Amino acid sequence: MSKSILITGGAGFIGCHVIQLFVTNYPEYKIVNLDALTYAGNLENLKSVEGAQNYSFEKADIQEAEALDVIFAKHQITDVIHLAAESHVDRSISDPLAFVKTNVFGTVNLLNAAKKAWAGELDQHLFYHVSTDEVYGSLHDGGFFLETTAYDPQSPYSASKAASDHFVRAYANTYKMKIVVSNCSNNYGPNQFPEKLIPLCINNIKNMKQLPVYGKGENVRDWLFVKDHARAIDIVFHKGKAGETYNIGGFNEWKNIDIVRLLCQKMDEKLGREAGTSEKLITFVQDRAGHDHRYAIDASKIQKELGWEPSLQFDEGIDITIDWYLANEEWLDHVTSGAYQEYYKELYRTD
Ligand code: NAD
Ligand code: TYD
Repeated sequence: MSKSILITGGAGFIGCHVIQLFVTNYPEYKIVNLDALTYAGNLENLKSVEGAQNYSFEKADIQEAEALDVIFAKHQITDVIHLAAESHVDRSISDPLAFVKTNVFGTVNLLNAAKKAWAGELDQHLFYHVSTDEVYGSLHDGGFFLETTAYDPQSPYSASKAASDHFVRAYANTYKMKIVVSNCSNNYGPNQFPEKLIPLCINNIKNMKQLPVYGKGENVRDWLFVKDHARAIDIVFHKGKAGETYNIGGFNEWKNIDIVRLLCQKMDEKLGREAGTSEKLITFVQDRAGHDHRYAIDASKIQKELGWEPSLQFDEGIDITIDWYLANEEWLDHVTSGAYQEYYKELYRTD
């Protein structure tokens, strides 16, 4: 049977790279992108595939059960790759309920829609849930997150993702749904909304605006290029063992302040500014409430069992990322002004 894959959150940062990879590499699959187009969803991310024969878009909210049933039936969905989520920790601190609604309630709705559509043949379909390493909590200076590390989420965002992970596994145990879960470290690359550290700094350096570094900038994150995450999702989808969890990460830990300095140095060169100009924009600001100290993924399981490895060094990935943002000023202007919502209305001639 040919696959008809529902990819949720496909207009977002990671989702758009997953959609592009699947639409291009698997012309025999039907790829259905379901996205509510929140502030983080932008169809301009998908210009390269919007006319493809095997691609279609459905504007829908995963909180709406009836809409999900209609989409499952209309496209005869055979598999799900679930990325739709509220994804920004700072927003989760100011509005935790929005995270419960989409990440927990929305995920359970989606599980129910899949269970209903696949009744009697749950073992023949895959529900792939894309999650984060933040569910494991915060590390001190040593050690790594393994697939067996106990969950210990510390922010409303990570608590909501942890809850969604638990529900997905509960559906596997209770209803024998075929599932797989992956937990990835911080992603960076083209198309990331400029509220997250790296694109925020690139945008601010470009505009000579302050670079807000939380606390002392000593917090550590493990960074992976977004296209390497998309490749990992492809491999887990096709080769992952049902019921398993795979940690995805680049073994690439950086203190925030070192990343910000690296961006300043590279952008001074690229913009022809005198060395040291952008570093003067660094401003230490009040720390994030409950700020997790360190995340670090041990990605040996996916490397050994599925043969996935990151393809890019951080230095190359950061160059590609900066160059993309500098070359795509219009994209940045649109997402920061909200004009991308007009693009949607024009493309689909609707509200
Ligand atoms: P993003 O915020 O860029 O995109 C999220 C997408 O989901 C947007 O297109 C948005 O419109 C859509 N969406 C939000 N609420 C929705 C709803 N109720 N119904 C339908 N669509 C909705 O997020 P991202 O960074 O691309 O992350 C994608 C997934 O990967 C998330 O599940 C996130 O938890 C996970 N993840 C992200 C990272 C990272 O570093 N960004 C790392 C590991 C895992
Ligand atoms: P972020 O990109 O929001 O990802 P996450 O919180 O999911 O890891 O933040 C990455 C790190 O950068 C995190 O330790 C918080 C810090 N940070 C700043 O110092 N300043 C900022 O303006 C932002 C957005 C983040």
